[in-house]
Amino acid sequence: MEERINEQKSLDVLVLAAGLGTRMRSNLAKVLHELDGRPLINHVCRTAAALAPRKIYTVIGHQGEDVKEAVLEELNEEYAEFVWQKEQLGTGDAVNSAREYLENEKSTLLVLSGDVPMIKAETLAGLVQQHHNHRGKGAACTILTVQLDDPTGYGRIVRDDGGMFDKIVEQKDGTDEELKVKEINSGIYCFDTKKLFETLSKVQNNNAQGEYYLTDVPKLLSEAGESVSLYKHKDKNEIEGINNRKQLADMEKVLRRRTVKKMMLDYGVTFIDPKNVYISASASIGRDTIIHPNVIIEGETKIGDGCVVRSGTRISNSIIGRGVTILDNCLITDAEVGDRCNVGPFAHLRPMARMEEGAKVGNFVEMKKSVLGRNSKANHLTYLGDATIGENSNIGAGTITCNYDGKNKHATEIGNDVKIGSDTMLIAPIKVGDGAATGAGTVANKDIPSNKLAVGSPARFIKTLNQEEENEDTSQEN
Ligand code: UD1
Ligand code: CA
Repeated sequence: MEERINEQKSLDVLVLAAGLGTRMRSNLAKVLHELDGRPLINHVCRTAAALAPRKIYTVIGHQGEDVKEAVLEELNEEYAEFVWQKEQLGTGDAVNSAREYLENEKSTLLVLSGDVPMIKAETLAGLVQQHHNHRGKGAACTILTVQLDDPTGYGRIVRDDGGMFDKIVEQKDGTDEELKVKEINSGIYCFDTKKLFETLSKVQNNNAQGEYYLTDVPKLLSEAGESVSLYKHKDKNEIEGINNRKQLADMEKVLRRRTVKKMMLDYGVTFIDPKNVYISASASIGRDTIIHPNVIIEGETKIGDGCVVRSGTRISNSIIGRGVTILDNCLITDAEVGDRCNVGPFAHLRPMARMEEGAKVGNFVEMKKSVLGRNSKANHLTYLGDATIGENSNIGAGTITCNYDGKNKHATEIGNDVKIGSDTMLIAPIKVGDGAATGAGTVANKDIPSNKLAVGSPARFIKTLNQEEENEDTSQEN
């Protein structure tokens, strides 16, 4: 019966993220450094949210406003609470800053470190479960531990002769004997919330760092006759903390390898050189797509089946359809490429560029906030900004949509079956009707009606094209 009552205890999460992280030697707060393209703190919050706790509290201090913003990218506002720690006096003090919110809660508090980003939700769930079930009535504190070959830098778990918890000793405070211990404190714990805050008041800062250590709480609890349990986990990668840039780079490597392996084995993606690609864990890539060396795929990018992405290309937060060929050295950000399109080499698709099915963009073509319609082509040296191009149109080499007059951006609308001659300047706002064409070097500063051929600078209309069709349907011309 007791057990059941405990199991129903509500769960809150507290994430410690106020420190600067001196060992990073950075002006950026540690939890804002990125792993897999997202701040460390986002990883922790996403995992915490998977446990569906009542609330997630984040203790903020250094660059607190930025940390807050990063957390809110991951969590709903009503779900996230922020607690300021004015001065960074240690992890015990960090938890203590949440006293007014939590001290009277009859809940379980899961404490996470903002700098331990690889922890998995199922590991945390196991920790919470053991905490609630310990000896049938639950523990006052349960510590997540792991055995490391090289425990340097971590707090050590000292057990008594009976193998039960005795105390945590920090690296800087340990005796030689204590520092030989290889079981370490992950910095992740469950506490009975009320008992935690009662005990925190007793923590002192008489240690090597002059800090208030959260790690003193378990010892004080057990001295007061409360039970402290240890949850020893096997996967050390999950528990690794980031304290310096070397650790961050090593973790990045582990994560990348894991992502690529999963894509090969589960999704059926071919990597010509799996060690030399950088693929976001949030990306998805379809079956039989071939990724060449030195490709970077960032964020929530989705790539369909049967595509080829050649070397030197970076694709960020974009959607690529099926059977697309992306040649070498393209940059594609926040863009959409339809099925069977061809891109590059050296193409630049900027935010809100959209290529529809079968469209083609070649060397040194830049697209921004523009649509290139089905089977339309812009093969060489072109800028398409704020432009909409219909189907089966051809944009000649060196065409520029002159969208900016120095103050405002203007739109260019190009219809279907249009042939824009090489080196045409389209001075927006401008419309080019279906079936129209421009001669080489045209500077068009007014709309070009359907089926007209425009030439010169400024452009003049010299003749009507597609005479036959037009005779059949004169309504087009007015
Ligand atoms: C801490 C533990 C150590 C454990 C290790 C696991 C303590 C005293 N030591 O050491 O036993 O092995 O984590 O990774 O807790 N923070 C604040 N405010 C502060 C100080 C820290 O919010 O005043 C935050 C930091 O931003 C960080 C986390 O708490 O996210 C841990 O702090 P850190 O200084 O990295 O502790 P460690 O020395 O790694
Ligand atoms: Ca740390």
